[in-house]
Amino acid sequence: MDYYFAPMEGITGYIFRNAHRACYPGIDKYFSPFISPNSNTYMNSREKNDVLPEHNSSLTLIPQILTNRAADFLGTLNELADCGYREVNLNLGCPSGTVVPKGKGSGFLAFPERLDAFLEEVCWGAENRGMKISIKTRLGLEDEEEFPILLKIYNRYPIKELIVHPRLRIDYYGNHPRMESFSYAVKESRAPVCYNGNLFSHSDLETFGSDFPDVKAVMMGRGLLSSPGLCSAPLKTEDERKNLRRFHDLIYDGYREISFGDKNVLFKMKEFWFFFIRRFAGGEKLLKKIRKAQKLSDYEAAVNAVFASLPILTEADMTGMN
Ligand SMILES: Cc1cc2nc3c(=O)[nH]c(=O)nc-3n(C[C@H](O)[C@H](O)[C@H](O)COP(=O)(O)O)c2cc1C
Repeated sequence: MDYYFAPMEGITGYIFRNAHRACYPGIDKYFSPFISPNSNTYMNSREKNDVLPEHNSSLTLIPQILTNRAADFLGTLNELADCGYREVNLNLGCPSGTVVPKGKGSGFLAFPERLDAFLEEVCWGAENRGMKISIKTRLGLEDEEEFPILLKIYNRYPIKELIVHPRLRIDYYGNHPRMESFSYAVKESRAPVCYNGNLFSHSDLETFGSDFPDVKAVMMGRGLLSSPGLCSAPLKTEDERKNLRRFHDLIYDGYREISFGDKNVLFKMKEFWFFFIRRFAGGEKLLKKIRKAQKLSDYEAAVNAVFASLPILTEADMTGMN
């Protein structure tokens, strides 16, 4: 099985990815949080910095693009090709209220004819540049019946891989992934299918593997944020505690080193802890302390207390989380 780290805007930037790679080897591909081009610039300085080859030399990165304009997609793809990338991923899953009304992310799924024309243009353009396109998609906006129509479109193009997050836009990240529609994708897709959604533990991974023996790749997001060692060899509890600490410190030091300003460092670390705290039992009180911290010293005191006092959850506790 190949393991992919899902793109997570605001969290899985290059500092996070390098820290993860250093502490928890085992991920075959990392996907960048979406790059959102516009007619003025294909990538802003933050996005360029995130995909710079020298910031990603220890890992395999697939940059992700969010747009519904073929010219912008191809402009971004060309810049990424110049950096040495050979694959880009198209975001057809983002459910956000600021993205969907613009017809992007999962909002693009409401316009199958436009999507078809877009794919025709970008697949030609990609081929001419020697680039491959993979797609990360939801099943549709409101109804699973939308999916067969979308899949028929995807099947017309030389898509490298179809990553299916089997939820609708209206599900956001709630409800259970719709596994019947995922089975349909496995059966009907011309492109190899990768599964994404609600894999939180080794036992979730095992169950998935035995239910879908033909699927050769899975992508994980929240599961890896709360159990960063999910795809690495398991460690004894005390070694795991040390490794979690090292992972945290690499991220924290990384943000401080890029002279972001304390306020931004705290903001980023608070986002990180929203998921990371789930690795520990009874973390609610200390999470509140972390969230309230206005100074790095308060933050560090709360974090030291987490590592010193909270038990690490067992594998069984992490199974089927949401
Ligand atoms: C905070 C956050 C940020 C995300 N950012 C992106 C993104 O930039 N691109 C994308 O395709 N999906 C994004 N996602 C969706 C995840 O990649 C993934 O599809 C989703 O979390 C379901 O997988 P999981 O159950 O393994 O977490 C984001 C999700 C969250 C919670």
